Formats: sequence, C-alpha cells, structure tokens
Amino acid sequence: MKTELNLMERERETVVGHVRKLIRKKKLNNSNNNNKKKQTKMMKRPTMLQRLFMYCQKLFKGLGTVPSPDDVQNLCRILDVMTPEDVGLSRDLQFFNSAFLSDRGIPRVTHTCIYECKKFSLTLLIFPAGAVIPLHNHPEMTVFSKLLLGTMHIKSYDWVDTNNLVGMKPLSQLRLARLKADRSFTAPCDTSVLYPTSGGNIHAFTALTPCLVLDVLGPPYSKDDGRDCSFYVDFPCKDIISSNSFLLNGTKTMKEEEGDCRYGWLQEIEPPEDAEMDGIEYLGPPVVDVSAMLGSCNSNM
Ligand SMILES: [Fe+2]
Repeated sequence: MKTELNLMERERETVVGHVRKLIRKKKLNNSNNNNKKKQTKMMKRPTMLQRLFMYCQKLFKGLGTVPSPDDVQNLCRILDVMTPEDVGLSRDLQFFNSAFLSDRGIPRVTHTCIYECKKFSLTLLIFPAGAVIPLHNHPEMTVFSKLLLGTMHIKSYDWVDTNNLVGMKPLSQLRLARLKADRSFTAPCDTSVLYPTSGGNIHAFTALTPCLVLDVLGPPYSKDDGRDCSFYVDFPCKDIISSNSFLLNGTKTMKEEEGDCRYGWLQEIEPPEDAEMDGIEYLGPPVVDVSAMLGSCNSNM
C-alpha cells in the first residue's frame, strides 16, 4: 500500500513537472526579449489572453456589481474561441494523455494564477482524469468557466429562497437548492457563466478525461471580506416544493413527484480531502497591465 502511494505521489510530481517544464521554457524565451518592445507589440497586436485581460479590467467593477448582459456576451465571445495554446499549454502535452495516468489513488487538481486583483482573477485549473472539485459556492461572484480541453461533468445548484414556501420547514443543517445542471461538457464548448444568485452558483467539477479549465472570477474569493469558499454535500430529490409532505417529524421523507424542476438539500461540510490542490507558478504568456504602465493604476487594484 505504502509503495503504491509512493508511486502515485511520484507520478503526480512527474505530471506537475511536465507542466512546469513546458511553461518555464516559454518564460525563458520571453525573458530574452526586450520588455518594452514586447509590451508595445502586445498593445499593437494583443494576444487572446491580453484581450481577455483588458476586457476583464473594463467589465469587473468590484464587489457588489454584476457585469451587464452585453459585457457578459462580449467576454464569452473572447473566451469561446480560446485554446490551450493561448495560455502556453498544448493538447499534445503528455499530461493530457489519459494513458499517462493510472487509476490509483485520488488524482489532484493543479491550479496556477495568471493574474489577480481585488476586482477579478484569471486562473488555470489542470485536472488529471478522475480529479474532482467537490460542490462549492462562489459568494457574490460572477464566474466565467471556459473548458479548454477534455470532458468535464458539471453539477450545479442555485439557492432557493424558502421563506415564502408554504409547508416548507428548513432542516437545521440543510439548505434547499435547485439543480441547474447535471451533465458532461466536451471541449471545444461554450463558456459557462454563473452569477451571485443564478446560473449554478454552487457547482462541482468531475474530470472524465484530463481537463484544462480557464476560470475568470469577479471578484475573487476573499477571506478578509467574509467571502471564503464553502463546500457542500448534496442529497438530491425531485420537485419537493410541490410536495408538502417532505418533512414529517423532522425526518427526510420524500414524496418524489414527476416534474421538470429538480431540487436537492445541501449540507455545508469541512473542506474535503479531494478539494486540496497543488499550486504552481504561472509561467505562460504574460498579461500586461497598461493602466499600471501609464501610472494611472486604480489604487485598489
Ligand atoms: Fe468553482
């Protein structure tokens, strides 16, 4: 068992090493160039990543704001056409060859931050096959998730306001949520968008193959602002709102009824073991903060 765990750990290190190596090579090439020339060139012909970054600067206005539908559509247009190569990775990378990874142990997600300020962040999530990010929320956030590579199962919920529901008694540790999505997506596919109270604000990712996800969070998580990430387990059920027989003497007696709507009870839990991720430095194509270069950077960025 111990030998198996060591092998698994070694394999994971090798995988992370492959990603590091590829990104480092890109950075070495970049560092040979003159920075000023590079930035000027970047402004004349911005890369897809730079375009994404600049639009995020325009679109995200800080905590308590949600981007307009037009802005959401425009950002999706940029993300929809992005590829792994736009963030310095390649679908040919050995990491993304599912045969390279065995089924032993719990595959872990690797994350790398491309950029972060108080208003938004750009993060890459790299999943080996079988890796899971359990159900988690995005408090007061708008999130764009672009699956750049692979097949991902996404399950998502939105909270239900139970205050006005006749016959609905909240359970002490459970909160009612409406199922928004429970299906698989294969790249290339459209960008998923979730909002503070809709679009599937609480979601779980399960990588059916090795996957690469570009996440745009606005604003990012912030413990200081009381917006840390919470994790949940779900107890799915069907259309329980129309069935007032859900609670009898505090026990979970479900009268499942046919209907288009599906609901679940969510219970907050301690961060599970499979939620732990490996963090690596982002060494891919850079983004250039033009406003900072011009000395007019917003003080809270
Ligand atoms: Fe998420």
